[in-house]
Amino acid sequence: MRLFLAINLNNEMRDALIDAQNDMYESGVRGGYTPEENLHLTLAFIGEYPDPENILSALADIELKPFTITLDRCGSFGDLWWAGLQTSPALEAIVRRVRRALAENAIPFDRKRFSPHITLIRRAENGTPVEIKPASMTVDHISLMRSDRAKQGMIYTEVGRL
Ligand code: 2AM
Repeated sequence: MRLFLAINLNNEMRDALIDAQNDMYESGVRGGYTPEENLHLTLAFIGEYPDPENILSALADIELKPFTITLDRCGSFGDLWWAGLQTSPALEAIVRRVRRALAENAIPFDRKRFSPHITLIRRAENGTPVEIKPASMTVDHISLMRSDRAKQGMIYTEVGRL
């Protein structure tokens, strides 16, 4: 199965992201908009891996002290448009810990540098990114997510938590 570790978002954050998507749509931006239920922040992308329990036990010793994340701005990597977060040393630290534990347990993951973003639109055309409300949430767990490709798009399902 295809797996990744992520933070799922609370309603306040989702609402702010949906508002930003609506503003972009109204300003003429077209593309593949991420559906509300799929909005998330990826911490580590593992990819095909057969054993979610092994991942959860590799990460079991990590103590997650709750911390806050806050939306900051919209930006883009080429035609992928995203919402970014205010700099958070606590977020950076937990991602380092999670990735170190994966590496120590020989669990493969995409080693690209962590650049926290919530994908809002893929293959975006026309228009410019918009302002975003500085919505916040407290993060008190990380989700191990499974990703399945369905006819109607990607389906993300939580298969465990730490
Ligand atoms: P993206 O939104 O920037 O594409 C599920 O695919 C999640 O894992 C998405 O948030 C995706 O980020 C992220 N991800 C990170 N590295 C990936 C990779 N190498 N392949 C697919 N998804 C990746």
